[in-house]
Amino acid sequence: MNVGIDRLSFYAPSYFLDLHKLAAARGVDKDKYVLGLGQERMAVPPPDEDVVTMAASAALPIVEAGGAGDLDLLIFATETGVDQSKAAALFVHGLLELPSSCRAIEMKEACYGATAALQLACAWVAAHPERSALILGADIARYDLRSPGEPTQGAGAIAMRIAANPRILAIDPEHGVHAEDVMDFWRPNYREEALVDGQYSTRVYLASLVSAWERYRAASGRGLDAFRRPCFHLPFTRMAEKAQMRLHRAAGLPAPTPEDLQRILGDSLGYNRNTGNTYAASLYEGLVSLLDTCPEDLGGARVGLYSYGSGCMAEFFSGVVQPGYREALFAARHRAMFDARIELDYQQYEDIFHLALPKDGGEHAFAQYRTGSFRFAGLSQHKRIYEAL
Ligand code: CAA
Repeated sequence: MNVGIDRLSFYAPSYFLDLHKLAAARGVDKDKYVLGLGQERMAVPPPDEDVVTMAASAALPIVEAGGAGDLDLLIFATETGVDQSKAAALFVHGLLELPSSCRAIEMKEACYGATAALQLACAWVAAHPERSALILGADIARYDLRSPGEPTQGAGAIAMRIAANPRILAIDPEHGVHAEDVMDFWRPNYREEALVDGQYSTRVYLASLVSAWERYRAASGRGLDAFRRPCFHLPFTRMAEKAQMRLHRAAGLPAPTPEDLQRILGDSLGYNRNTGNTYAASLYEGLVSLLDTCPEDLGGARVGLYSYGSGCMAEFFSGVVQPGYREALFAARHRAMFDARIELDYQQYEDIFHLALPKDGGEHAFAQYRTGSFRFAGLSQHKRIYEAL
């Protein structure tokens, strides 16, 4: 029996900053962000949107399509938690009116969390094939203004229905992991902005890729030629090129040309290039981008997946795209969402950046911006108030 991704939905905030504008404000050559990092736009969540509303907006199409009837496990992966105690999954559980028989928990390991959730859900469904699970990954990537990480900021959410006989991607049982206690990127509880040792983090990402890949290769007996397309965790899209080149070097293959890289990776990078880093959602945003936009029918193709979470936890795994997968995608919805986005100017971006949540425990109603199907409407006595629109 195959188990894997049956539905796959992505959500990004309605507002964005063009990175040419950020480069101009920072006095940086415009090509550094667009060509050097491979990023064009960063998604900026308005003040009445957070990981809960983004994840609920990503999941709603799956629920509306009837994907919640047999649901008994909801795992929400995020490193932008809204509460030290209560799982963000429970807020989503309420907004989506999920059955009280459905477990709801939160999971964290930087950008790797959704992969841990996916693997647990696959094992869960394999043991209970008549049930399904909903995996959410949502984050707001935030660094200090004027730091090297600033142009890689972003926001977005992914929702995946995990089921037996999936319509989109059957997950292979083999995997290779690499875990190591390192300080390449972290976000202390007392800070809103992440701290990162940027160049070091890219080296750890690549070293962990080789280690995870070697273990995957030993477990599966597959070589790089087994994958029609690879998808990588995308802190910025040029990282995927570095990753693919490193895999070629590890396999003793000639370096891919820029044309090879574009052909193999191009379709998986389009969405992330326009949202920035979405941390827990990032790898799966790349997968949605590939499946939604690749003109070639990928039915029957094996896809390699590399998940990396700083700190660090890495996993290389794979899946087989199912024939007819396009009918289970939300490609038109994603296209309409990107087409309807609103551009911010630099000052609007910085104004939103500086807004902070009140901490006085009073009554606060937030101004209404354009959000998805839900909004973070305010605070009352330290409780978050959410609204369905
Ligand atoms: N035209 C074209 N290219 C240019 C250019 C120009 N005018 N100016 C610079 N470049 C190129 C550089 O040559 C470089 O390319 P190569 O890597 O191929 O050499 C690229 O642009 C970036 O330039 P720098 O390395 O000088 O950039 P930087 O040091 O200012 O910042 C960064 C890069 C360290 C990755 C920074 O963006 C950062 O700290 N980002 C956040 C951390 C991060 O994303 N880490 C990734 C691994 S960790 C992870 O994956 C987890 C996660 O999600 C955070």
